[in-house]
This record gives sequence, C-alpha cells and structure tokens, in this order.
Amino acid sequence: MSEIVSLGLTADLDPANPGATPGGNQELLARYQGALTNVFGTPQRVLVRGYGSRVWDADGKEYLDLLAGIAVNALGHAHPALSSIITSQLATLGHISNLFTSPGQIALAEKLLTLANAPEGSTVFFTNSGTEANEAALKLARAFGNAQDPKRTKIVALTGGFHGRTLGALSVTAKEAFRAPFEPLPGPVVHIDPNDAAALEREVDERCAALILEPIQGEAGVVKLDGAFLRSARSVTRDRGALLIVDEVQTGAGRTGNWLAYPERFMDGAEPPAVFAPEDLPDVITLAKGLGGGFPIGAMICIGQSVSQILAPGSHGTTFGGNPVAAAAALGTLTIIEREGLLEHARDLGAHIARSIEELKGVAEVRAFGLLIGITLEKPVAKELAAAALEEGFIINAAREDTIRVAPPLNLSSRDAQTFIDAFDSLLAEVSTTASQGENA
Ligand SMILES: Cc1ncc(COP(=O)(O)O)c(C=O)c1O
Repeated sequence: MSEIVSLGLTADLDPANPGATPGGNQELLARYQGALTNVFGTPQRVLVRGYGSRVWDADGKEYLDLLAGIAVNALGHAHPALSSIITSQLATLGHISNLFTSPGQIALAEKLLTLANAPEGSTVFFTNSGTEANEAALKLARAFGNAQDPKRTKIVALTGGFHGRTLGALSVTAKEAFRAPFEPLPGPVVHIDPNDAAALEREVDERCAALILEPIQGEAGVVKLDGAFLRSARSVTRDRGALLIVDEVQTGAGRTGNWLAYPERFMDGAEPPAVFAPEDLPDVITLAKGLGGGFPIGAMICIGQSVSQILAPGSHGTTFGGNPVAAAAALGTLTIIEREGLLEHARDLGAHIARSIEELKGVAEVRAFGLLIGITLEKPVAKELAAAALEEGFIINAAREDTIRVAPPLNLSSRDAQTFIDAFDSLLAEVSTTASQGENA
C-alpha cells in the first residue's frame, strides 16, 4: 500500500472491490458534516479517483463525468502527460513567491497574450481563481476611475452575471440570494439586462469606470450575449472612456471550442478573423477554471500598454498566483489541447450532442458552445433529472430549475458522449413521467 493510500487520500485498491474506500460514502459524508463549513450543502458523493472522463466514489461506483469539476478538467482526470508535467515541476521547483519568477510563468504569460491576440504592451497578472482574477480587474477599474477627473467609480454589470463570491466580485454578481446577507457591497454597481442596448447607452456614462460581462453566461444556464450587444458594449465603453472587462473564467481556455468566446460572440458565431482588430478587443480578460486543467490558476490579461500600466508596483499582489507548478499545469494544459486538436473536437462533439439532444422529447432548447452546453427542459425538473442521472452513473448539473448544464472534459470520446445521450433520453422520460404523475395526483 502506498503512502498516499495510507493517508486515506485515494482509493484502497482492494481487488475484490476496486475503488471502495474504508468508510464508504456514508461514513465519510458524516465526517464531512462534522468538520467542514456548511456552505455547499451536503456533497453528492465522496470521490476518490478519476481517469479520463470517469470518476469513482468511495463505494467504488463509477460515473461518467460530464461536468469536469464545473468546466474545469479540460483534459479529464489524471491525464498522464499533464500529471507528469505537474509532478516533474513540483519535484524541480514548487513555490517561490512573486519576489521571484520562473521560466514557466513567463512562457505562460507570453502564450496567453498570443492566444488572446493581444497587441504589444499587453501583460498578464496571475491569480489562483476566477474570483481573484475578477477582483484584480475590479481593482484595476477602480484605480483607472480614480485617476480620472471627475472620478469614475460606477461599475456596470449584467443581470444573470456571475463573477465570484469575494465582496468585490460579489458586488457585480447579480443573484440577490448570494448578495443579500453581505450588503452593503462595494459600489456603486448598476445591473442592466443582457442585450439591452438602450440601458448600455444610459448607464455607461462619464461616471462609469468599467462594464463587466461574460460573453456567455455560464451560471445563468449557458446564455449567450448577442453579437450586436457585445459590439455596442465595446464601442460605447470606448467612446465614453470606460473599460470593458470580459469575464472568460468559464468560457475561456478552450471550453467553447475557441481559446476565447469573446471574438466568436462578437462576430455572432461567424469565424473571427485570424488577427482580431485591436480596437475591438476588450481592455481586460479574466480566465481561470479550465486554464490549469484542474490545477488552481487564474489570470487577468490587460490588453494594451495603457491598461497594463494602471496597476503599478505595490498596488496589487498575491503569494501563490502563477507559481511554477500552476504555470506548468496551465502551459501543459494549453499545449496538450493544441497537440490533441481538442478545440476542433470540442466544437464538433458539442454540435453533435446538441443536435442529438434537441430532438429528444421533453427538451425545449439546447445551447451549445463547444462543450459548454445548456439544455432547457420543457418542465422544471432539472434537479430531479441531475439526481436520477447521478444514480445511473452520470454527473451533470442543474444550472436552473429547467436547465441542465453539461461541461465535460474537452477530450470526451464520441462513444462516451453517445452513452450519455442515450441515457439522457430515458432518464428524462422517466423523470418527466414521475413529474406528470405528481401533477395529476
Ligand atoms: C464566469 C465566472 N466568473 C467567475 C467565477 C468564479 O471563479 P472561481 O470559482 O474560480 O473563483 C466563476 C465560477 O463559476 C464563473 O463562472
């Protein structure tokens, strides 16, 4: 038995019961409840190992993981090349603080600037999460606004938007239930409806420091912004002297079959030009989730020299952000996505899943952007459907009462996708029948 197994961190590989962990789900979840702060509710299962698109729980049950840690594990679980990149970096140089840098950190920043088509003078700030990347962007916006005369302090954000849970990121997150216990939040923040061009014209004024938006709202159930709205967002912010912050925490790093969702959304789904016009780019792009393939890392990309110079030495910082292991994980993830052709695969497979699922009885609409997929059901049975799917060995997520979100590894095989599509059909039929019986009882 390896040392890791004896620490209880991974499955005790009992050949008679592969994957079962002492205590099993039930006992471990009871211990969880006694020891962890209850902000997540009771976790659905205790997961002990994963490989590719599959994970196993503490009872040894296998699941097809169609959520990938909520749009994170771009290469699935325990990808051999990524694991080896991360472990060899850890065995060489693990953490150094930002008083020092490492070759990997520099190479990753250069790579992100290239992928974003960022012009000369653009720079990257690394964080550990999406929230922190947005927090950095909001601080940048505040510093930018404070330097203007008159000061600009207002941030405009969108209803349905989700940007994180720290006080700053929460101030621009729309959902009332998340916000209410923590009022007063930093402000002023004004929320306008997505695709409301008149509100954009009205609110992005001389008091506005920045507009923050997701090109596709993930937590809201995978809802796209119209290209026309994104184009006005860019031109109105530019004309009125405000910054445009694009939160690609969920959509970036290949999830939508493109490195970033913004250019493709800006073009309303048409192929963006190979080099996007610099004036059409946002001022700030934030990334996290899929970037590290499961290793925590986020990034704020500052587009152009003037935006890059807003935060000066001493004005912001982080102990861990972009450390050698995180940088290696992200460089490894991006390189493997490229090498394995996963952008194209994500586009093709996402389109196939969408075509197959939208034909099923009980499905109202499917919105697929690569492998970020929202499935709206005719009845508000998403929670019941996700629970039934879990019992059947499929991990999916109820983003709203009537909407399922699917965000599998970018290297999900066509065969696994088909297994899911077939199961989805029968599970939805079963859950819809039970719901109708409930209505008629
Ligand atoms: C669009 C978006 N922004 C920010 C966040 C927050 O990121 P994190 O949970 O890594 O802090 C999320 C997380 O779901 C997100 O979807």
